[in-house]
Amino acid sequence: MRKVKDIDWGNLGFQYRSCDWRYVSCYKDGSWDEGRLSDDPNVVLNECAGILHYCQECFEGLKAYETVNGDIVCFRPELNAERMAYSAEFLCMPPFPKERFMDALDKVVKANIEYVPPYGSGASLYIRPYIFGSGPVIGVKPADEYMFRMIVMPVGPYFKGGAKPIAIMVSDYDRAAPHGTGHIKAGLNYAMSLHAHEVAKEAGYPENMFLDPKEHKYVEETGGANFYFISADGSTFVTPKSGSILPSITRRSLVYVAEHYLGLKVEERRVEFAEIGEFSECGLCGTAAVISPVGLVHSHEGDIVFGKGLEEPGPVTKKLYDTLTGIQLGTIEAPEGWIHKIA
Ligand code: PLP
Ligand code: COI
Repeated sequence: MRKVKDIDWGNLGFQYRSCDWRYVSCYKDGSWDEGRLSDDPNVVLNECAGILHYCQECFEGLKAYETVNGDIVCFRPELNAERMAYSAEFLCMPPFPKERFMDALDKVVKANIEYVPPYGSGASLYIRPYIFGSGPVIGVKPADEYMFRMIVMPVGPYFKGGAKPIAIMVSDYDRAAPHGTGHIKAGLNYAMSLHAHEVAKEAGYPENMFLDPKEHKYVEETGGANFYFISADGSTFVTPKSGSILPSITRRSLVYVAEHYLGLKVEERRVEFAEIGEFSECGLCGTAAVISPVGLVHSHEGDIVFGKGLEEPGPVTKKLYDTLTGIQLGTIEAPEGWIHKIA
């Protein structure tokens, strides 16, 4: 048996916990330093650091798992490295090179290997890489110094109740602007969603459905996941296409799984809010959310209920969940290159 920390793995929520090691690299005078593992969870910053004033920050989210064979693996981490480089460049920050990202990932997971939850616990090691402006700025411009950190923490399900369907609410607010930053993983988008999230929580809903910021006519995403829908006859996987949502790695993977593993038709297209009542299933997909079934969508026009509502997920959602998690945990053969072995 692999040695693991004494943690109640089955009852973890989605919460911060300081683990022993994090990876840190600093950017100064035009280049990233060689990077190192640090045991210090605190960051000391100048009072004028770019992140504190003009929100120059981007981040990623990925997970490490123990597979059925006892390997410690990550799911498609190269895509996180690429998306992070894109987000950084969009915010005028230096990208952290992909091969450096992969090296940091291997190092930080190996250093914290006792925090990787055991196979079958339902938990995983959440990995949060981020880059922020650490150099001082007061005029509105990019900072000239940056910090890259990659921290880890063991987590359980993002939504209480795990795979049980949730009820969500259509937000009156927008999380991103047309032609803005909705398509990158910038902390500022999440700051934008906080008020809407509190409003939803007050009303008894753990998440929002955001509609497109231009017309409020099309489905976008939630504060932390993309959507998918299943057609009434169960034959088609439909997922919203928009320039102001995050290109979810889970959603891109599900598009492949739906078509090649489950034989479904796939439609990536604009989805009108007015048509969603015709679908038989609705779900959220993302690294933290994995696949979270949506049983009900509340709006000013009333409630839309999918399948058996909040009772249980629909049949296609169950198959998508079992196939995706089977691929991640090694019980179902993965497409070439999807599983990155660390230890
Ligand atoms: N949309 C938003 C706003 C997110 O924060 C996330 C989480 O990363 C996703 C979608 C899902 O993306 P991924 O599947 O790459 O984790
Ligand atoms: C993730 O799924 O990794 C995210 O970053 C989403 C966030 C809401 C936790």
